[in-house]
Formats: sequence, C-alpha cells, structure tokens
Amino acid sequence: MEEQVKKSLFSAVQPSGSVTIGNYIGAIRNFSKLQDEYNCIYAVADLHAITVPQEAAALRKNTLELMALFLASGIDPNKCVLFVQSQVPAHCELTWVLNTITYPGELSRMTQFKDKSAKHAENVNMGLMDYPVLMASDILLYQAALVPVGADQKQHLELTRDLAIRFNNRYGQTFTVPDGYILKDSGAKIMSLADPSKKMSKSDDNANAFVTMSDDKDTVIRKFKRAITDSDSEIRYAPEEKPGVSNLLTIYHAFTGKSIADCEKEFAGKGYGDFKMAVGEAVADALAPIQAEKARLLADKAYLNGVMKQGAESAFRIARKTLSKVYRKVGFYSGD
Ligand code: TRP
Repeated sequence: MEEQVKKSLFSAVQPSGSVTIGNYIGAIRNFSKLQDEYNCIYAVADLHAITVPQEAAALRKNTLELMALFLASGIDPNKCVLFVQSQVPAHCELTWVLNTITYPGELSRMTQFKDKSAKHAENVNMGLMDYPVLMASDILLYQAALVPVGADQKQHLELTRDLAIRFNNRYGQTFTVPDGYILKDSGAKIMSLADPSKKMSKSDDNANAFVTMSDDKDTVIRKFKRAITDSDSEIRYAPEEKPGVSNLLTIYHAFTGKSIADCEKEFAGKGYGDFKMAVGEAVADALAPIQAEKARLLADKAYLNGVMKQGAESAFRIARKTLSKVYRKVGFYSGD
C-alpha cells in the first residue's frame, strides 16, 4: 500500500567527463538521501551527452564511472531504479512524439542552447536544440512528480511542464506535471577556487579552479592551497565581501557536516595557509572512501553490468506504460 502514496522523483547526470565536488554536493550526494521517501529513478544521461562532441571510448568509460560513482555515493539499486538512458528506447520514442507539440522558437530561446551553440559553434546540431525535449521525455515517462534540478536546468523543467500540460490538454490526462524539488541543504553552492564569482565547473580552462571526485589527496591539497582568498586574514562567512573564504567555509561545512558557525570558530585566529590545508585535508579524507568503493565496483564489471540490466528492465516496465498510453492517444495502431 505504502508504495502507492510515494511520489516519484527523477533525476539524471550526464556522463561527460569528470564530476566535480560541486556536482557531488549539489546533486549526487543527495540522491541517496531521497531513496526512502520517494520512488527514485536515476539515469546516466548518455543520450544527452552526445549533443556535444564525445569520443566513443571515453563516453563508454564515463558511463561506467558515473554508474560506479552513483553506487559508491550510496544509491541502492534495490531501492531505486538506476539505469543508463540509451538502454531504454522509450526515451527516444517519446521524444519523437513530444517534438510534434514543441515549437522551434521555444527551443532556440533556451539559455543553455544559446550558450552551448556559442561554445560549440562548429557543431550546432538538432540534438543540441532538442535536448530539452529529451529531458522532458526522461521526466514524463516515469510520471515523476518531483525533479531535483539546479538553477541551470530550471528553464528546461519549465518547458517540461509546458509540454505535459499541452499534451494533456490536447489528448486528455496523460502526464503528471512535475515540480522542481528544492534540496533542503541547497545552500551549498560550490564556486570556482580560482574565481569565486563563478560556479565551479569541470569545463573551466584553469584546472585549479575545480576539484573532481577522482582527484588524489596531493592534487586536492595542492588545489586548495592555491585557492583564491582575499587580502585580509579573517576567516568569516560573508559571501559578498569575502567570496573566496566563504566558498572554502561552505566546502568545509559540506564535507564535514559541521555548521558554518562552528567552522568559523574552529579557524578563529588561524591563518589562511592553515585554513586552506584543513579544507583540503577534509575534502581528501571524505573522497577517499568513495574513491575506494568506486574502484572496487569498477573492478567488478559483471556486477555493474547486472545493475544496469536490472535498472534498464525496471525503467522499461514503467516507461512502457506511459509510452503505450501516449501511442494510443495520438492514434498509433497497435494491433490489439
Ligand atoms: N540536463 C541535466 C544536466 O545536465 C541532466 C538531465 C538529463 C536531467 N535528463 C534529466 C536532469 C531529467 C533532471 C531530469 O544537469
């Protein structure tokens, strides 16, 4: 009975290279915390990844790595549906139908499309433009009521809602209209270590600006040692006035679980050198067990393949119901 009252929640991450500690704190880490309260469906969004150039071997490797990271960060494949997007054809199938109720203007206006088109000017392809419709399909196939998304994906979620409502109006009630899910500890937005006015991003030209989930201890500490602070020497949380120091306090808080106030107290009277070293140590120590578990999983390919297979089957079972309903509503002849 309880199963029926649980809401469904969908999210996905693209397997496009390194995952930063910002992605981990802002998204992945929270996924496992939601798995008891909701019917969670999590995907490795490889169909989305190919909208910008990918090397095939790297994409395959990144897919496995992201699966292993999901598991290492606590996602339980027996509590959630955890799968690889391209292994469930319904995502592409629903995208086709939704394309017929989407206007080109809605897609060409999207901020992310404009940014990515500027960045990959040599490869502005239809997939890049259609990216939000594929994302809508991901969400709508599972009748997800909730979608944890960061600020950069809000516009895409808005489009998802618009398409769900438009389809429901035209063909009758079919899709749950999803809401964004605001994470309780969403204050933890991690900024670049080199320029704390920018979000930490793995595509930053400066490799010292971000820390990835697979950086080893020496690399983590070296990056934190070089982190930008400011010219006075007070360790105080004041994002406007002291963005660099505040970002380091946020990171320390996120990885140790100590409150910001306690973090400030802990470093009162200490110099920036000691502070940066302590943050680096705390992050490296928190990453170590995740990295070890990830390595263990990656060495057990049969297990990972099994998880993916089970996940794709469960996802397909849910997705097929929605897709059949859609096909019936639009008038596809099924023979039965
Ligand atoms: N576009 C998302 C991102 O890059 C990933 C994604 C794909 C997603 N499909 C989704 C997120 C569905 C939430 C729901 O972050």
